[in-house]
Amino acid sequence: MSRKVISNWRQTMPAQPKSPLHEPLTLPNGGIFSNRIAKASMEESLADRRFLPGESLIRLYERWGRSGAGLLLTGNVMVDPNALTGPGNVIIQKKNDLDDFKRWAEAGKREGSRMWMQINHPGRQTFGFLSKTPVAPSAVPVKIPGRMFSKVFGVPRALSEDEIRRIIDRFVQAALVAEESGFDGVEIHAAHGYLLNQFLSPLSNRREDRWGGPLENRALLLLEIVSGIRSVVKRTFGVGVKLNSADFQNGGFREEDAIRVIELLNGKGLDLLEISGGNYESPAMQGGDGTGRREAYFLEFAKKARTIARMPLMSTGGFRSAKIMEEAVRSGALDMIGMATPFAFEPDAASKLLSGESEKIDPIIPRLSNPAFNSLSKMAAIRLQLRRIGEGKKPKLPAFLIGNMILDQIRGRKNAKRYKKFLMSLESDH
Ligand SMILES: Cc1cc2nc3c(=O)[nH]c(=O)nc-3n(C[C@H](O)[C@H](O)[C@H](O)COP(=O)(O)O)c2cc1C
Repeated sequence: MSRKVISNWRQTMPAQPKSPLHEPLTLPNGGIFSNRIAKASMEESLADRRFLPGESLIRLYERWGRSGAGLLLTGNVMVDPNALTGPGNVIIQKKNDLDDFKRWAEAGKREGSRMWMQINHPGRQTFGFLSKTPVAPSAVPVKIPGRMFSKVFGVPRALSEDEIRRIIDRFVQAALVAEESGFDGVEIHAAHGYLLNQFLSPLSNRREDRWGGPLENRALLLLEIVSGIRSVVKRTFGVGVKLNSADFQNGGFREEDAIRVIELLNGKGLDLLEISGGNYESPAMQGGDGTGRREAYFLEFAKKARTIARMPLMSTGGFRSAKIMEEAVRSGALDMIGMATPFAFEPDAASKLLSGESEKIDPIIPRLSNPAFNSLSKMAAIRLQLRRIGEGKKPKLPAFLIGNMILDQIRGRKNAKRYKKFLMSLESDH
């Protein structure tokens, strides 16, 4: 067959319906995501000695910047040096030189992805080896079944009114750092059992002042942070929230509550709402909403949220197949699809799904029989991939999962020692 004939044949092929994942998304602030796939937040644990973005973190985002994702969300960045979700986190510091943050944003954005910084305060979900007395809405400790976890988290102390005000300011300052450094937006982490989620849940918020009691009061901290940030950043800067659909605990934050919080967030100038679920006590974010769905854990809730949400919606949790992502966007339930784990094992996850080269990105991590060890070993295996990519290597499963988990724990303790020294240096600065 001659070349000419082949090209004619191509022209007469029935046009393939375009995947909705390719459609750009215009946000309320006028910003545009070039497609509907986001790399969702994964705590990288790659802060440098100063707890700032260093070479490995920047290299990791350079690589993800070539992944084809419309949006790259950073792992959670700490708004308060005294409260860390993990020992290798990036911390917003008062007298920060912004150069490192600028290089981080630039690395992710080089090929056209948007970069948003996720900002967070862990509240009571702070490991005991990082702080013995974390702060929280009320003095209610995290309880995870099993003796092994009985002393993992310290007993929290309830925040005073003044301290709550300072935390609002810290979130606002963090957003300004992100804006000045060239990030396109921030995502306020109000899910997964961290501080803002603790305020939302009646199980962890037993306050009797204006920050506790009815849901409208429990949501006040989140709403004040959103308004505080919106009032200082430019209108073109993106502001998003990650919210639980539910905590999946008796007496906790329920779907009806999440719907009401979305109503309260309507009209507050949000550009994106990411739906997730669960917390350290009930980790639905890693395994679903209890309906047994193997993909798209929070899609059923997203459909309900869609009927009232006036901002673009994204959900993260279990998405692996292009077909399921396309259906979620085509049906109008979601505007953006978030994926986390697949990007750790396949840095080209978005472009492979968008081009049709892969129908599904589903990394398989062998399971350990003990559920607690299984979860630790899974997280350690994922963190190893982030480190490898940050060192310029290709992702590769560890030969020995348990050995890798032990090394990961040792690395965490070393980082914790560094962190204690860092805290002392901050105190001596005052
Ligand atoms: C290693 C690791 C770190 C994570 N760190 C964060 C984080 O910093 N912030 C956040 O909102 N979610 C975090 N998550 C949760 C993911 O964003 C996501 O909700 C979850 O992994 C489910 O999505 P997936 O099935 O695509 O992995 C993390 C997940 C993993 C595996």
